[in-house]
Amino acid sequence: SKILLLNGPNLNLLGTREPTIYGSDTLSDIECRASAQASAAGVTLSSFQTNGEGALVDRIHQARTEGVDAIVINPAAFTHYSIALRDALLGVDIPFVEVHISNVHAREEFRNRSCLSDKAVGVVCGLGTYGYQVAMGYCLEHLKTKAK
Ligand code: DQA
Repeated sequence: SKILLLNGPNLNLLGTREPTIYGSDTLSDIECRASAQASAAGVTLSSFQTNGEGALVDRIHQARTEGVDAIVINPAAFTHYSIALRDALLGVDIPFVEVHISNVHAREEFRNRSCLSDKAVGVVCGLGTYGYQVAMGYCLEHLKTKAK
């Protein structure tokens, strides 16, 4: 089985970026924990972060070729306006879980809207970086369908 962990724009700055909102964990902390969780379950994890919408779309297309079973994605700001990202996820037809570190419903109004949530298997928000562990745990429990 294969899981893909995707992080969108500005998440490379985690650790120093608005720490009162996003906490002090770095992206590398998040990816290391996810990778340990996956390998403990005998699942392969690939992690990818990009600041580019096109690069994210391309990586999602590649996931279909690779036979990825599930995607955990924090689309960051793209959440709120990227129809291209929505179309890419629908186009490859791979189940995905949407993660936000912060509670997007308790912030600016423009963060209430997601182009993806109605198509996600589930959405985790407001649990800090622990939300990635929740999403990974769910995928490992429920979405590892294909043979290794
Ligand atoms: C975020 C929330 C988004 O609104 C924001 O643009 C981000 C991070 C989160 O993880 O809380 O970059 O997705």
